[in-house]
Amino acid sequence: MEPQDPSSLDRLAFSDELFHRMTEGFVLQNHKGEITYFNDATLKILGLTQEELLGVKSTDTMWRTIREDGTPFPGEEHPASVALKTRTSVSEVRMGIYLKSDELRWITINASPTTEGVIVTFRDITQLKNSETQLRKVSERFEFVQSTLKFGIWDWDYVNNKLEWDDFQYKLYGIPKEKFLGAYEAFESTLRGDEGPRVTAELQATFERQGDFATSFNSLNQTTGAPTTIGAAAKCFYNAEGKIQRLVGANWDITEQKRNEEKLIQASKMSSLGEMASGIAHEINNPLTIIQGMAFIIGRLSESEHPEKKEKIAELTAKIGNTVQRIAKIIQALRTFSRNDEADPEDKISVQQVVDETLELCQERMKSHNIELRLPPIPNATILGHGAGLSQCLLNLLNNAHDAILDSESPWIEIKVESDDKNVRIKITDSGNGIPKSVAESLFTPFFTTKAIGSGTGLGLSITKGIIEKHKGTISLDRSCPNTCFVIELPLHRE
Ligand SMILES: Nc1ncnc2c1ncn2[C@@H]1O[C@H](COP(=O)(O)OP(=O)(O)O)[C@@H](O)[C@H]1O
Ligand SMILES: [Mg+2]
Repeated sequence: MEPQDPSSLDRLAFSDELFHRMTEGFVLQNHKGEITYFNDATLKILGLTQEELLGVKSTDTMWRTIREDGTPFPGEEHPASVALKTRTSVSEVRMGIYLKSDELRWITINASPTTEGVIVTFRDITQLKNSETQLRKVSERFEFVQSTLKFGIWDWDYVNNKLEWDDFQYKLYGIPKEKFLGAYEAFESTLRGDEGPRVTAELQATFERQGDFATSFNSLNQTTGAPTTIGAAAKCFYNAEGKIQRLVGANWDITEQKRNEEKLIQASKMSSLGEMASGIAHEINNPLTIIQGMAFIIGRLSESEHPEKKEKIAELTAKIGNTVQRIAKIIQALRTFSRNDEADPEDKISVQQVVDETLELCQERMKSHNIELRLPPIPNATILGHGAGLSQCLLNLLNNAHDAILDSESPWIEIKVESDDKNVRIKITDSGNGIPKSVAESLFTPFFTTKAIGSGTGLGLSITKGIIEKHKGTISLDRSCPNTCFVIELPLHRE
């Protein structure tokens, strides 16, 4: 039966069990505002009995009601009262009601005036309200974390190539919201140099192993034009066939961090140079003494007219030439070493040359401390990378070896290079008897040192590890060796 005239509803209701089946509360109030009819859902939602409810008004003191902002909701302002007074409908008003048990229940109310009074319907929205509160709390927490840690969130529907950004992302990349294309290409177009193909390749590799994604890349802020280094991490979602469906990720600015890392590496280079200063003075002083001695002899010889003396002079001048060249080499090695070639493109580098240049900087110092240098022939091997960085790695290892065996009997250091068809291994072994486990565990931790304050920075090995990993290689302590042996492994470059 379809009730047409609202005024006849109260009569119809008694004969219609429809109202009792509803999950919504249904209430009729007369012109005085007294409750004359209600359905079962009403009793259930309000936690009341028939006796408790019949005849009660909205203004009754038994109601303990609040608004969404937590302030009291007076009976004169309840939707039923307003509809009665103003003769107009009121819809979707939210109200909190304390039950007898003190439990707070939330309802949303509609009230329409009839000729005899008012019809009120309402639904229980406690669950919805709770999830809203929960959601609000979570997003408040999230916003706090996001604004403190400064990261943006992206959501990439891979199948349809739809990319969504949150507000922070627009700032990070310098793309105005209204100009954002909403696809991967929008992000890709901000990348500098060869970063685009590299990131794409890294993504493909991630999808192939069905893992999660993490990387960093150089981007150009599209508003300010400032080069920005950005870190990225993402959770990848795959379907049952293992095909990538969606990625949810975060981006954050690591420009400053990168700059500091570079500064740290440069600082540690300078500090290892400092560590070697006396050694380098020695490296240069020896050949200079040789030159000085020879110049003296030449001076004496030039006073004579003998032809064989002239020959002798020629021989000595040649030696001076060689010795000067040796000094030039040392200076060249120093130059290469102290350059910051981080930003340069990768170069083809011969392992032999890196070892030679590094030795230029420290072999005299070893000699002066009676350290025997063992240098088996080095096989032909080329790698791709940065010469100065690799030289710094070797020097760090050689300096550590030097420090460890300085006061021991018949000390030696061996540099041995081996290669197979994929990798080259550079093994630096010293005559020490290995490193105790407790020390070995922290070797590569930044600032870990067992040396006296002022003589060790504790950065050598951690920076070495960083540089080697940038070259896609590994460094480890070979614990099977009875002496102390560090092994650097790097991928070979093949034409
Ligand atoms: N060849 C080695 N023999 C013994 N101990 C070593 C050797 N190389 C490194 N270590 C240990 O590792 C620590 C960390 O080395 P490193 O990172 O280069 O910092 P630092 O040399 O400034 O102490 C050293 O203090 C030392 O205890
Ligand atoms: Mg060191």
